[in-house]
Amino acid sequence: MNYTNLDQLESYKKLLGAEKKDLKKLLSKERVSSSSVKLGGDLKYNWASIPADDEIIRILQDLADEAELVEKYEEILRGKMMNPGEKRLVLHHLTRGNVLGEKVMYGEEDKEAFYSKEKAKIKDFSEKVHSGEIKGSTGKPFSTVCQIGIGGSDLGPRALYLALKGYERKMEAHFISNVDPDDAAEVIKSLDLERTLFILVSKSGTTQETLTNRDLVLAKLKETPIEGFVPNKHMVAVTSKTSPLASDKSLLASFFIDDFIGGRYSSTSAVGGVVLSLSYGYDTFSEILEGAHEEDVLSLNKDIKKNGALLDALLGVYLRNVLKYPATAILPYSQALSRFPAHLQQLDMESNGKHVNRFGKKVDYVTGPVIFGEPGTNGQHSFYQLLHQGTDIVPLQFIGFCNPQYGMDIITDGSFSQTKLNANLAAQIVAFALGKSDENPNKEFDGNRPSSLIYGSKLNAKNLGALLSHYENKVMFQGFVWNLNSFDQEGVQLGKVLAKKVLKGCEGDEVLKAYSDLLI
Ligand code: F6P
Repeated sequence: MNYTNLDQLESYKKLLGAEKKDLKKLLSKERVSSSSVKLGGDLKYNWASIPADDEIIRILQDLADEAELVEKYEEILRGKMMNPGEKRLVLHHLTRGNVLGEKVMYGEEDKEAFYSKEKAKIKDFSEKVHSGEIKGSTGKPFSTVCQIGIGGSDLGPRALYLALKGYERKMEAHFISNVDPDDAAEVIKSLDLERTLFILVSKSGTTQETLTNRDLVLAKLKETPIEGFVPNKHMVAVTSKTSPLASDKSLLASFFIDDFIGGRYSSTSAVGGVVLSLSYGYDTFSEILEGAHEEDVLSLNKDIKKNGALLDALLGVYLRNVLKYPATAILPYSQALSRFPAHLQQLDMESNGKHVNRFGKKVDYVTGPVIFGEPGTNGQHSFYQLLHQGTDIVPLQFIGFCNPQYGMDIITDGSFSQTKLNANLAAQIVAFALGKSDENPNKEFDGNRPSSLIYGSKLNAKNLGALLSHYENKVMFQGFVWNLNSFDQEGVQLGKVLAKKVLKGCEGDEVLKAYSDLLI
């Protein structure tokens, strides 16, 4: 059904009126073992510690049906224009496989064929770099890659690269994103420029930070006093065919995405594909795609108890709109996922941090929560104090794995480090849910603090792809419920315009002057 406001939905009204549940009473051994849904790879999503009983789950199922959430996902997959603000299709799922098995055409163009061709190019290029067939301009093989990009052209690819660092690498990867010159300086000083391949990534080809860093890197490369050194032959581009970068034939190679892949959804396109294939090999990138595709297929199930992304999305809506919790913390008990919360910040907040619905009307309900996070157990020694005893309740999303990546571990005090890590994870879930009474209020834990858990055997490429897609699809389903266009980002424009306006005549250290100049 088409609706403009949530309260037009009978199921939503029912959800608002449903009796709130006490997590302390709800949580049981039986509930823990019966509350998991299979995700892609060997991941599972467990919602035992969310205060939703059978009645709430039934209403959420009604909400999914009434709001036609899976049907809307199918429309995306069929190539309907689901980003009306920018008049664009939303095709990131197609970069990892055809979920419905139907052709997706844009005019005369077969979109699946376009993405397959780009993947074949990435495979061929990365294999030639690894074999030494493609070398640096002075004849030395490339040993290092360095991605220049920001936002979606940085966060997802960087998070995925770091997530697999426990596995064998073919090339080391570095990333330059911030226009702060110290970011580039710090990275460049560690590079052997003769052996470094730069990947310039910008879908639009107009992003100030990325173009500035490109110029800085090229200027540095031009200073290289080695005979025969050709800076542009140490750089490839990943961009859209319509971007100003697309026509630069002087670069070593160009790879293409198109406007139908949103920046924050682009990790499985050439935006992530080139750097991940160069650093880990194309086969590893393929495994990421396989895990993501598996999860995309599971996300088609209309039964919310069999569709982890949909269930996670709906429980999130319950926590946000009914229980009114303002934030969500992402807490991976895996150091390798250190930048994953940063990626999810963009994915979630740039998609659903909106107050106008897809019909251009202001909404009268709350939308996307604030997202933040850090790996455990480090976070426990930082912000968990507020999570346990602060005045706001923050729903938590834990992520954990049975085995470490490196296989290097030690028994001290009777247990492996990995066992200690997971014991902490389990302890936190229970501490948040059940709390502890104490005569001293300062030592009392109220409990009733909800959390969910995604867990699997190991953080490998396939599970990583499934994890990535789980969150992409969760955010997409939530955007459908809230009736938002989750695929544009008008809210980032004003700052960019003002920065450009004040840039002329402003010296680097004159922040206060620029600030007041804008107020005239
Ligand atoms: O500033 C917002 C944004 O448009 C993001 O959505 C995007 O991921 C990022 O900038 C980078 O864009 P581009 O790949 O076009 O350089």
